[in-house]
Amino acid sequence: MRTQVGIVGAGPAGLVLAQILRVQGVESVVLEAHSRDYVEHRIRAGVLEQPTADLLAEVGAGERLHREGIVHRGVELQFAGERHRIALSELAGGAGIVIYGQTEVVKDLIQLRLDSGAPLLFEAEDVGLRGIETDRPVIAFTHDGRRQELECDLVAGCDGFHGVCRPSIPGGVLRESSREYPFGWLGILADVAPSNDELVYAHSERGFALLSLRSPTLSRLYLQCAPGEDIGLWPDERIWEELQRRLGVPGWTLHEGPVLEKGVTGMRSFVVEPMHHGRLFLAGDAAHIVPPTGAKGLNLAIADAAVLAEAITTWYETGSRALLDGYSTVCLRRVWRAEHFSWWMTSMLHLTPGGDPFDERLQLSQLRYVTASRAAATTLAENYVGLAGARA
Ligand code: FAD
Ligand code: DHB
Repeated sequence: MRTQVGIVGAGPAGLVLAQILRVQGVESVVLEAHSRDYVEHRIRAGVLEQPTADLLAEVGAGERLHREGIVHRGVELQFAGERHRIALSELAGGAGIVIYGQTEVVKDLIQLRLDSGAPLLFEAEDVGLRGIETDRPVIAFTHDGRRQELECDLVAGCDGFHGVCRPSIPGGVLRESSREYPFGWLGILADVAPSNDELVYAHSERGFALLSLRSPTLSRLYLQCAPGEDIGLWPDERIWEELQRRLGVPGWTLHEGPVLEKGVTGMRSFVVEPMHHGRLFLAGDAAHIVPPTGAKGLNLAIADAAVLAEAITTWYETGSRALLDGYSTVCLRRVWRAEHFSWWMTSMLHLTPGGDPFDERLQLSQLRYVTASRAAATTLAENYVGLAGARA
């Protein structure tokens, strides 16, 4: 088998890249380790920056997003038992965020791909790369019990943090920067209307909590927990009780409902530089991870895919490698802005286990400043809606 671009991974990065390339007339084959059902139901992020939503619409994946996505123009920060609104749109030149689950983005992109007839192979096992330092890289994989080889001009490693592409790059080439956090998030999806019109990021003496949503009838909520927390220790009643304690403010009710899904997510910051080697280009979580506070992971993955798609199409159209060579530099500016923002939001809102009272006083001072100063609130707003990334 031969194609122009071999794409490993059908997450947001791989699917957006495949879609833009197809629209631009560049052939690709997408290889995904899991089943369609698995990737379409893996619950993860839910906040699209305005530029991400605009990009999805531009590439033809905006129809249901436009219909079902919920535009928010502000978020709330809660601390010391009070809520303070950050007026995102007012502070960030009119931009807002769109609430639309990653599951839905992935479903829309998979449907577009399958409708077009372009190749997307699910359950592609034992994917391995060869010859990334040559002009003819090869992806070997097993599909339907048959070992196959896909010869490509370029390989896009869109296979997430635990994928095979990044480890295929020889040792000593990549510079890694990382940070582990001493906490994780326990997330639930609940069959109950959201109890607030906007997201609430809550600092509390018992740890961080976040109120979010997926639709007018589905709530998404998170609790700070231990990094490897055993979900078995968290029956639904305990989760709701803890959410009530951390999110509760006088005169407001957190409505409870059946828990449809629950899980624990670890938190880390991680970046490799550069994001390419030879004919292999990494995009999304394969190259960088942010802690979820700030909702940047999905947006970064899609932004990388857009930059890479433009570089690849320009290379085919003009023969110039300039944009491909500059791919990493362009992406890493946005990535590091998001790394800083996510680290900052995480540090400001989570309780450090073993609690240092000095740290907590600093957090509260920072939260008061961010909500009281227009300049500080603007910094948060620009980063949150994604404008700061474009300017970084
Ligand atoms: P992925 O979505 O990870 O896609 C990679 C794809 O590659 C997967 O489909 C995978 O099955 C496939 N793959 C892996 N290995 C191979 C292989 N060897 N061969 C073929 N295919 C392979 N971000 C937020 O902003 N907010 C959140 O609340 C949030 N929650 C998260 C919860 C979890 C559990 C995780 C893991 C991430 C979360 N994120 C969140 C981050 C966000 O979801 C990611 O940044 C986003 O999914 C990145 O997209 P991607 O396409 O780069 O990678
Ligand atoms: C959601 C996830 C986030 O990481 C975040 O900062 C806000 C919302 C969500 O899943 O809805």
